[in-house]
Amino acid sequence: MPQTPMADRPLLKIEDVEIAFSSPDEADIVAVRQVDLALGPGKTLCLVGESGCGKSVTARAVLHLNDQNAVISRGRILFSPPGDETVDIAALKSDSLAMRKIRGNQIAMIFQEPMSSLSPVHTVGDQIDEMITLHEGLKPREARERTVSLLDQVGVPGPRERADSYPFQLSGGLRQRAMIAMALACKPALLIADEPTTALDVTTQAQILDLLKELQEDYGMAMLFITHDLGVVAEIADEVAVMYLGDVVEQGNVFDVFRAPRHPYTQALMRSIPTIARKKERQRLSPIKGTVPSAKDRPEGCAFTSRCPYAFEPCAGTKPDRAPLGNHVARCHLLTESARKNEVPA
Ligand SMILES: Nc1ncnc2c1ncn2[C@@H]1O[C@H](COP(=O)(O)OP(=O)(O)OP(=O)(O)O)[C@@H](O)[C@H]1O
Ligand code: SF4
Ligand SMILES: [Mg+2]
Repeated sequence: MPQTPMADRPLLKIEDVEIAFSSPDEADIVAVRQVDLALGPGKTLCLVGESGCGKSVTARAVLHLNDQNAVISRGRILFSPPGDETVDIAALKSDSLAMRKIRGNQIAMIFQEPMSSLSPVHTVGDQIDEMITLHEGLKPREARERTVSLLDQVGVPGPRERADSYPFQLSGGLRQRAMIAMALACKPALLIADEPTTALDVTTQAQILDLLKELQEDYGMAMLFITHDLGVVAEIADEVAVMYLGDVVEQGNVFDVFRAPRHPYTQALMRSIPTIARKKERQRLSPIKGTVPSAKDRPEGCAFTSRCPYAFEPCAGTKPDRAPLGNHVARCHLLTESARKNEVPA
């Protein structure tokens, strides 16, 4: 097979990945199935979907950060850092040397709750210093200088003094900034951000988003960004993948997907959020009826069957193929060749 030239290869390529959770008294639960995603260097891919659809499980698998009962039961997670060999993360053990080199060094992660990555018993400065010393072998004084400049760069006022604060002494917004500084300490090629702004007030949310966009440019870093907020997606994404009950149902160029969503779930998701146009026309929001079922109750076929207004005969039993739609793809029987006779949602 011809090799992909270094410059053209995606930084991250998730191929046909399935993630299952074992439980002592039940059959394994497949939380994520047949997921294919690609993210180019310096680009942003957003994962969206309702709660429980597998966004975090997918993203955490890239760093082997899922709970211990999780297993990547199928597929490959190919990571191609600049100037380095491609590695299949799915085949690595979570405590292997190779995985430790990737985690926090080439790929960093930030969360909704900064205390997931900050220790409450050390000052933020000490924690960032340690990260820098570990990965770059700098002397303590040099590391502290870098820490101060990183805190400054992420917008922490009085960075030299604040470095001596414990996380609980900082406001939510400043804690979030400190966590971002720690994630950037090793200049990662990929930043995974799992709803980093969801818990913040609207103003701080906007500031943190602007900061992440700025840092992304400065560092040339790619982002895998999880959010419930389609407004955030429109603002930052190059590509978007819509997840429902462990499946990616629609994905591709964000402009294309938002301009002409074709999967009934994406359409319903978009009708359920406020937009300026909707507000102007005083249109009512239409929440998606029902709730996401448990992964245990997912049908063999299309995961959206139980809530889809268009569901017809093949939907529950047969998983739809991907239908190409210009710069994006969707998985719905209504969009595939075999179902042309049925009404296609426009
Ligand atoms: N430790 C676990 N054991 C069993 N199943 C799990 C475990 N963690 C996650 N799951 C399964 O994975 C599914 C997807 O969870 P995930 O956290 O990825 O959802 P999400 O899309 O990130 O939702 P949210 O928007 O609420 O964060 C859950 O509904 C659940 O079925
Ligand atoms: S495959 Fe069937 S159930 Fe699934 S979204 Fe399309 S029409 Fe609805
Ligand atoms: Mg989540």
